[in-house]
Amino acid sequence: MAFTIEFQPLGLRLRSENNLNALDAARQAGIDIMAVCGGEGTCGKCLIQILKSKSTHKPTIADQKHISPDRLKAGFRLACMTTLDSDSKLYVPATSILENQIMQTEGEEHNIDLHPAINQTQISLEKAHLKDLVSDFTRVKKALDKPGLKADLDILRKIPQILRKNAWCVNVITRGDQIIHTQEEKISAPLGLAVDVGSTKIACYLIDLNTGKTLTAKGTPNPQIAYGEDIMARLAFAMQSDNNAQTLNDLTISAINDTAESMCRRVNRFVEEIVDLCLVGNTAMHHFFLNLPTASLAVSPFIPAVTDPLYPPAKDLGLAAMPGAGVYAPPVKAGFIGSDHLAFLYAAQFCKDDRTRLGIDIGTNTEIALQAKGKIVSVSTASGPAFEGAHIAYGMRAAPGAIEHVCIDPNGQTEIDVIGSQEAIGICGSGILDAVAQLRQRGLINKRGRFLKEKEITKNDPQGNPAFFLSDGENAVSLSQQDIDQILLAKGAIRAGIDILMDYLAVEPAEIDEVVIAGAFGSYMLPEHAMGIGMLPTVPLSRIKIIGNAAGAGARMMLANIYARKEAERLARSIEYLELTLYPDFALYYANGIRA
Ligand code: FES
Repeated sequence: MAFTIEFQPLGLRLRSENNLNALDAARQAGIDIMAVCGGEGTCGKCLIQILKSKSTHKPTIADQKHISPDRLKAGFRLACMTTLDSDSKLYVPATSILENQIMQTEGEEHNIDLHPAINQTQISLEKAHLKDLVSDFTRVKKALDKPGLKADLDILRKIPQILRKNAWCVNVITRGDQIIHTQEEKISAPLGLAVDVGSTKIACYLIDLNTGKTLTAKGTPNPQIAYGEDIMARLAFAMQSDNNAQTLNDLTISAINDTAESMCRRVNRFVEEIVDLCLVGNTAMHHFFLNLPTASLAVSPFIPAVTDPLYPPAKDLGLAAMPGAGVYAPPVKAGFIGSDHLAFLYAAQFCKDDRTRLGIDIGTNTEIALQAKGKIVSVSTASGPAFEGAHIAYGMRAAPGAIEHVCIDPNGQTEIDVIGSQEAIGICGSGILDAVAQLRQRGLINKRGRFLKEKEITKNDPQGNPAFFLSDGENAVSLSQQDIDQILLAKGAIRAGIDILMDYLAVEPAEIDEVVIAGAFGSYMLPEHAMGIGMLPTVPLSRIKIIGNAAGAGARMMLANIYARKEAERLARSIEYLELTLYPDFALYYANGIRA
């Protein structure tokens, strides 16, 4: 009997009639898993994690040789040694993939005005003598003209040694009234790390705190995805036990540490040179990385444990950095409006003028803000993962082999652009949006997204459902009626949020001066198609601005400048949160939003 294999975090699916090994299955699905030994079970590179399967996958001798007992218990196996014979869900770690999904880190760069939270001073002291008996630490405080300066025991132990070994010279790094590090010589360029923890990906930026320049950036899949595609699933998993919540925290921190280490290696630096960090994320991610309780985020009225800005030491969070490094976690606004939304609005300069501006960050939860009439009002809407390819038969995230753009002529003939210019193996959000918008534009589907039978543009897909084919051949990619329904539901949620905000602040589409779109999907979608299917209100194209990973840009600005933190905190206080589900006629707005 046919069964389905689902691969996360790429979101790819494969149907198979026959038993097959997981390495072959991944390859058939278009995922290049590392297989240095060619599937002999000897290199240990083809690691996968079995998240769900009806069969018991008893570890083989090769599994036991290459995988630790803890990881075996957590379902890790060698893909080449794993036979699949029933519906299964597998997680393919980034380290096992030859070519990763596209992890957008780029965002509009602003000139960063430098006022970092740390100061570095090289001081030279008078040598102690019988007529000057003050302590070493008092000498340091005097030299820095900071009588209230504090230092923990480790630092106090180090100062006398450095002074006597280094001709009474010492390099001191301070944050506020605390010494966080001492060493003999100046650090040429202290490093900062800005991190945007998204539900799907984690974007990290390594910053030179002397210049504000981004030295390198890297995105990595959020490994929490193995425990649920959407936030609610992960919150439910965390609620089951303290161990589960700890697992989600550990995964996030390890992913940040691994990424920081690899970025430091790339620029010949060390994680121990990271002196300051700024971490943003939606409220659930914020609570997971800070190890705050998340149970109240999972149930109505979705109350965060804390909304204030926080400054924990990096070592308390298990982050790889200089032992005295600190973390800035900007404020969150509500259960579904996190510090990533604040960072986006700050980077997009909301509150800096009085124009009427709509800000949209499209993700599995889409946060929308409308600035008008002296107010900024924000909502969060559960748009779901359809634009990331989930719940779409051939859907996948943006990765090599994904159809990213589609052109359909009035007869239903298609032209496609595939990421990596290779054979299409699936379709990502921007491709799906193009396809649905053009099917509607060409009059091939009606307002409710139904295929028009008289147009005869569908053929049966392998499951026997009528579908519109975007490519030919053995691995043909198609869109079924059910796929189109999923997209219309997702865009309906976004449009309902926009319409409610416009109603609340009595704004007409023509009055909107600018629509700012952030997020990975937002960067690749064509705005005219988003307007074509009614996801966005109709405005002149020139008023739409795509700004990429704006949350990452905001995090960098706050990392490099303590006054930016204060400004962002003021912005957070000025944002009004509107609960969509309580808004009169919410269901009607949603129903209207679904129409193509
Ligand atoms: S491919 Fe080498 S162990 Fe699986």
